[in-house]
Amino acid sequence: MFTPQHSPAAERNLPPILEVLQRVLPPAGTALEIASGTGQHAAGFAQGLPGWTWQPSDAQDAGFASIAHWCAQAGVANVLPPLVLDVLASPWPLLRTFDAIFCANMLHISPWATCAALMDGAARHLAPQGLLITYGPYLERDVPTALGNLNFDASLRAQNPAWGIRQLDEVVQQAQRAGLQLRERNPMPANNLLLVFGR
Ligand SMILES: C[S@@+](CC[C@H](N)C(=O)[O-])C[C@H]1O[C@@H](n2cnc3c(N)ncnc32)[C@H](O)[C@@H]1O
Repeated sequence: MFTPQHSPAAERNLPPILEVLQRVLPPAGTALEIASGTGQHAAGFAQGLPGWTWQPSDAQDAGFASIAHWCAQAGVANVLPPLVLDVLASPWPLLRTFDAIFCANMLHISPWATCAALMDGAARHLAPQGLLITYGPYLERDVPTALGNLNFDASLRAQNPAWGIRQLDEVVQQAQRAGLQLRERNPMPANNLLLVFGR
Protein backbone atom coordinates (compact mmCIF):
# COMPACT_ATOMS: atom_id res chain seq x y z
CA MET A 1 0.00 0.00 0.00
CA PHE A 2 1.30 3.48 -0.88
CA THR A 3 2.06 5.75 2.06
CA PRO A 4 2.82 9.32 1.03
CA GLN A 5 5.89 10.97 2.52
CA HIS A 6 4.81 13.55 5.09
CA SER A 7 6.88 16.17 6.86
CA PRO A 8 5.27 17.76 9.94
CA ALA A 9 7.72 20.69 9.57
CA ALA A 10 6.65 21.28 5.96
CA GLU A 11 3.02 21.30 7.09
CA ARG A 12 3.81 23.88 9.80
CA ASN A 13 6.05 26.19 7.75
CA LEU A 14 3.94 26.20 4.58
CA PRO A 15 1.54 29.02 5.63
CA PRO A 16 4.22 31.53 6.73
CA ILE A 17 6.37 30.79 3.66
CA LEU A 18 3.36 31.13 1.37
CA GLU A 19 2.53 34.51 2.92
CA VAL A 20 5.96 35.84 1.90
CA LEU A 21 5.79 34.25 -1.56
CA GLN A 22 2.40 35.92 -2.15
CA ARG A 23 3.94 39.29 -1.21
CA VAL A 24 7.22 39.14 -3.15
CA LEU A 25 6.15 37.29 -6.31
CA PRO A 26 4.18 38.87 -9.16
CA PRO A 27 0.69 37.45 -9.82
CA ALA A 28 1.85 35.00 -12.50
CA GLY A 29 4.96 33.14 -13.58
CA THR A 30 6.72 29.80 -13.59
CA ALA A 31 8.70 28.63 -10.57
CA LEU A 32 11.32 25.92 -10.29
CA GLU A 33 11.40 24.25 -6.89
CA ILE A 34 14.72 22.65 -5.96
CA ALA A 35 14.72 19.78 -3.41
CA SER A 36 10.93 19.38 -3.37
CA GLY A 37 11.07 16.44 -0.93
CA THR A 38 7.59 15.25 0.02
CA GLY A 39 5.79 17.64 -2.36
CA GLN A 40 3.69 19.25 0.39
CA HIS A 41 5.22 22.64 -0.44
CA ALA A 42 4.66 22.20 -4.19
CA ALA A 43 0.98 21.38 -3.61
CA GLY A 44 0.40 24.19 -1.11
CA PHE A 45 2.25 26.86 -3.07
CA ALA A 46 0.53 25.89 -6.34
CA GLN A 47 -2.79 26.23 -4.52
CA GLY A 48 -1.89 29.55 -2.92
CA LEU A 49 -0.33 31.00 -6.09
CA PRO A 50 -2.93 30.06 -8.73
CA GLY A 51 -1.37 32.30 -11.39
CA TRP A 52 1.89 30.38 -11.14
CA THR A 53 3.03 27.14 -12.74
CA TRP A 54 5.11 25.12 -10.30
CA GLN A 55 7.94 22.83 -11.46
CA PRO A 56 8.99 20.49 -8.63
CA SER A 57 12.36 18.72 -8.71
CA ASP A 58 14.67 16.74 -6.49
CA ALA A 59 18.01 14.98 -6.72
CA GLN A 60 16.15 11.70 -6.19
CA ASP A 61 12.81 10.49 -7.52
CA ALA A 62 11.91 8.71 -4.25
CA GLY A 63 9.38 11.41 -3.35
CA PHE A 64 7.78 11.83 -6.76
CA ALA A 65 4.76 9.64 -5.97
CA SER A 66 4.23 11.71 -2.82
CA ILE A 67 4.40 14.93 -4.82
CA ALA A 68 1.66 13.54 -7.09
CA HIS A 69 -0.36 12.49 -4.04
CA TRP A 70 -0.28 15.89 -2.29
CA CYS A 71 -1.03 17.71 -5.55
CA ALA A 72 -4.02 15.43 -6.21
CA GLN A 73 -5.23 15.98 -2.63
CA ALA A 74 -5.00 19.75 -3.14
CA GLY A 75 -6.74 19.48 -6.51
CA VAL A 76 -4.13 21.63 -8.24
CA ALA A 77 -3.60 21.58 -12.01
CA ASN A 78 -0.70 24.06 -12.10
CA VAL A 79 2.06 21.64 -11.05
CA LEU A 80 4.27 20.11 -13.75
CA PRO A 81 5.59 16.53 -13.47
CA PRO A 82 8.67 16.55 -11.18
CA LEU A 83 12.16 16.52 -12.67
CA VAL A 84 15.25 14.77 -11.38
CA LEU A 85 17.59 17.69 -10.73
CA ASP A 86 20.73 17.42 -8.62
CA VAL A 87 22.06 20.94 -8.14
CA LEU A 88 25.60 19.54 -8.36
CA ALA A 89 24.96 18.45 -11.96
CA SER A 90 26.68 20.74 -14.43
CA PRO A 91 24.92 21.98 -16.41
CA TRP A 92 21.41 21.52 -14.98
CA PRO A 93 19.23 19.45 -17.34
CA LEU A 94 16.98 22.42 -18.13
CA LEU A 95 16.55 24.38 -21.35
CA ARG A 96 14.56 27.31 -20.00
CA THR A 97 14.56 30.12 -17.47
CA PHE A 98 12.15 30.62 -14.54
CA ASP A 99 10.54 33.63 -12.91
CA ALA A 100 11.37 32.22 -9.48
CA ILE A 101 13.50 29.46 -8.02
CA PHE A 102 12.56 28.19 -4.55
CA CYS A 103 14.69 25.95 -2.35
CA ALA A 104 13.81 25.01 1.23
CA ASN A 105 15.91 23.07 3.70
CA MET A 106 18.56 21.73 1.35
CA LEU A 107 21.72 23.72 2.12
CA HIS A 108 22.21 22.22 5.60
CA ILE A 109 21.34 18.63 4.55
CA SER A 110 23.85 18.42 1.71
CA PRO A 111 27.55 19.21 1.26
CA TRP A 112 28.60 22.89 1.25
CA ALA A 113 29.32 22.60 -2.51
CA THR A 114 25.54 22.60 -3.13
CA CYS A 115 25.44 26.27 -2.11
CA ALA A 116 27.74 27.42 -4.93
CA ALA A 117 25.94 25.04 -7.30
CA LEU A 118 22.54 26.44 -6.32
CA MET A 119 23.71 30.01 -6.84
CA ASP A 120 25.39 29.27 -10.18
CA GLY A 121 22.37 27.33 -11.44
CA ALA A 122 19.96 30.02 -10.27
CA ALA A 123 22.04 32.73 -11.98
CA ARG A 124 21.87 30.71 -15.23
CA HIS A 125 18.18 29.80 -15.02
CA LEU A 126 16.51 32.88 -13.55
CA ALA A 127 14.77 35.32 -15.87
CA PRO A 128 16.24 38.87 -15.69
CA GLN A 129 13.76 39.97 -13.00
CA GLY A 130 13.57 36.51 -11.42
CA LEU A 131 13.98 35.80 -7.70
CA LEU A 132 15.80 33.03 -5.87
CA ILE A 133 14.07 32.28 -2.58
CA THR A 134 15.67 30.05 0.03
CA TYR A 135 14.24 28.93 3.35
CA GLY A 136 15.86 27.20 6.30
CA PRO A 137 18.05 27.73 9.38
CA TYR A 138 21.22 29.84 9.06
CA LEU A 139 23.97 30.88 11.47
CA GLU A 140 24.58 34.65 11.72
CA ARG A 141 27.77 36.10 13.15
CA ASP A 142 25.98 39.06 14.77
CA VAL A 143 22.84 37.22 15.96
CA PRO A 144 23.02 34.71 18.83
CA THR A 145 22.14 31.22 17.57
CA ALA A 146 19.03 29.72 19.16
CA LEU A 147 19.74 26.63 21.28
CA GLY A 148 17.46 24.59 19.02
CA ASN A 149 19.57 25.44 15.97
CA LEU A 150 22.84 24.71 17.82
CA ASN A 151 21.49 21.26 18.75
CA PHE A 152 20.16 20.73 15.22
CA ASP A 153 23.55 21.67 13.75
CA ALA A 154 25.34 19.21 16.05
CA SER A 155 22.91 16.42 15.15
CA LEU A 156 23.33 17.11 11.42
CA ARG A 157 27.14 17.03 11.67
CA ALA A 158 26.96 13.79 13.69
CA GLN A 159 24.88 12.20 10.90
CA ASN A 160 27.18 13.45 8.15
CA PRO A 161 30.26 15.62 8.68
CA ALA A 162 29.60 17.35 5.32
CA TRP A 163 26.21 18.61 6.56
CA GLY A 164 25.51 21.49 8.90
CA ILE A 165 23.73 24.81 9.22
CA ARG A 166 25.42 27.35 6.96
CA GLN A 167 26.76 30.81 7.80
CA LEU A 168 24.47 33.40 6.24
CA ASP A 169 27.34 35.68 5.18
CA GLU A 170 29.06 32.78 3.37
CA VAL A 171 25.80 31.94 1.55
CA VAL A 172 25.43 35.61 0.57
CA GLN A 173 29.06 35.63 -0.68
CA GLN A 174 28.34 32.65 -2.92
CA ALA A 175 25.25 34.41 -4.25
CA GLN A 176 27.23 37.59 -4.98
CA ARG A 177 29.97 35.61 -6.71
CA ALA A 178 27.27 34.24 -9.04
CA GLY A 179 25.78 37.71 -9.61
CA LEU A 180 22.87 37.56 -7.15
CA GLN A 181 22.26 40.05 -4.32
CA LEU A 182 20.42 39.48 -1.04
CA ARG A 183 17.26 41.61 -1.23
CA GLU A 184 15.34 40.43 1.86
CA ARG A 185 16.05 38.58 5.08
CA ASN A 186 12.71 37.50 6.54
CA PRO A 187 12.75 35.99 10.05
CA MET A 188 10.40 33.00 10.15
CA PRO A 189 8.97 30.82 12.94
CA ALA A 190 11.22 28.25 14.63
CA ASN A 191 14.44 30.24 14.03
CA ASN A 192 14.38 29.92 10.26
CA LEU A 193 14.99 32.61 7.65
CA LEU A 194 13.43 33.17 4.27
CA LEU A 195 15.94 34.87 1.98
CA VAL A 196 15.13 36.62 -1.28
CA PHE A 197 17.89 37.10 -3.87
CA GLY A 198 17.74 38.95 -7.17
CA ARG A 199 20.21 40.13 -9.79
C1 LIG B 1 15.11 18.05 4.40
S1 LIG B 1 14.59 17.72 2.76
C2 LIG B 1 13.69 19.19 2.39
C3 LIG B 1 12.49 18.92 1.53
C4 LIG B 1 11.56 20.11 1.32
N1 LIG B 1 12.21 21.15 0.56
C5 LIG B 1 11.09 20.64 2.65
O1 LIG B 1 11.48 21.75 3.06
O2 LIG B 1 10.30 19.95 3.31
C6 LIG B 1 16.09 17.89 1.84
C7 LIG B 1 15.91 17.61 0.36
O3 LIG B 1 17.09 18.02 -0.33
C8 LIG B 1 17.28 17.13 -1.41
N2 LIG B 1 18.65 17.25 -1.88
C9 LIG B 1 19.78 16.90 -1.22
N3 LIG B 1 20.86 17.12 -1.97
C10 LIG B 1 20.41 17.65 -3.15
C11 LIG B 1 21.04 18.08 -4.34
N4 LIG B 1 22.38 17.97 -4.50
N5 LIG B 1 20.29 18.58 -5.35
C12 LIG B 1 18.95 18.65 -5.21
N6 LIG B 1 18.28 18.24 -4.11
C13 LIG B 1 19.01 17.74 -3.09
C14 LIG B 1 16.93 15.78 -0.80
O4 LIG B 1 16.70 14.78 -1.80
C15 LIG B 1 15.69 16.13 0.02
O5 LIG B 1 14.50 15.99 -0.73
